[in-house]
Amino acid sequence: MRLKYIALLGMAVAFSSALYAEEEIGQAISPEDWKLYEEGINPGEVFAEEVGGKLFEKPMGPKNISCASCHTKDGDIEERVATAAAYYPKYDKDAGMIINLEQRIQICQSKYMDMKPFSLKSKENTALTTYLYYLAQGTKINVDTTSPMAKEYLKYGRYIFTLKRGVRNLSCQVCHEFAAGKVLRMQWLKPLGFEYNGIKGTTAADHWPAFRMTKNKVQTLQQRFQGCQKQGGQKKLPLGSKEMVALELYVKSLSNGAELKTPGLRR
Ligand code: HEC
Ligand code: HEC
Repeated sequence: MRLKYIALLGMAVAFSSALYAEEEIGQAISPEDWKLYEEGINPGEVFAEEVGGKLFEKPMGPKNISCASCHTKDGDIEERVATAAAYYPKYDKDAGMIINLEQRIQICQSKYMDMKPFSLKSKENTALTTYLYYLAQGTKINVDTTSPMAKEYLKYGRYIFTLKRGVRNLSCQVCHEFAAGKVLRMQWLKPLGFEYNGIKGTTAADHWPAFRMTKNKVQTLQQRFQGCQKQGGQKKLPLGSKEMVALELYVKSLSNGAELKTPGLRR
């Protein structure tokens, strides 16, 4: 682990000069976070445990109950909750449709805790989500691709992936398939699954949510999509929309079989 992060740090340094030219640069990396990288610690894991783990245990809402009060048995978090991250987006009978893990957390908050759910943009929802992904580390991604509803979503997700939009008339496909293997503004364009046309991909879904060094915070997979939409000159699709869930299911299905290494650490 340690070596891997040090190698990543080296990459980050190599990239940093290129970064200044990018509109993408967010907040500068704080001295505290630099110290963490230097020590080989992923700040995403610290966020998962310290923020997400604490929220999971914290009594909330008018009933003053915690996630843990329902989902812990004999001190251990229920297996299905601790591994849920590997199976979402999936069909949810409360929602009557396919939803992602972020949205399942919201349903528990409104249905069982009688509280206003944390918004999908909030640090709190991301923290709980990251915590659940962290617990599922090592579990193989296995999203449903066979039920009729999953098939419909996958088809729609692939459609969104290939749809050219925005001022630059770009689609995800243009960068992540057609231009895969090429370099854009100092960054390799990579396929998002295991491989595309013989070009090795990154199995992207196995390391999101990830701590982004250029943003100095953890982002979910859908938030990463929004980053690409913004950079590609497209209007951002709303988190949790059918389009985004379908895209998430599609991109995640490309990593089916890969072990979760969440949270990741990315540029
Ligand atoms: C009062 C009890 C209760 C509380 C509190 C609660 N949940 Fe749940 N949760 C449930 C039940 C019941 C289900 C099962 C719904 C189903 O499968 O039909 C569930 C399902 C889930 C699932 C999906 C598991 C799967 O197999 O797909 C996740 C993830 C989850 N809860 C996370 C949370 C989180 C995070 C919190 C705190 C914000 C929370 N829950 C609070 C009762 C609760
Ligand atoms: C203009 C080119 C471009 C477009 C269009 C684009 N991307 Fe990206 N994408 C990139 C680059 C560059 C990266 C950074 C590569 C890296 O992190 O190594 C990236 C990274 C990603 C990642 C993270 C990969 C990983 O392994 O961590 C995901 C997921 C992703 N893009 C999904 C999408 C989706 C979905 C769309 C369409 C909504 C899209 N991208 C559109 C260029 C693009």
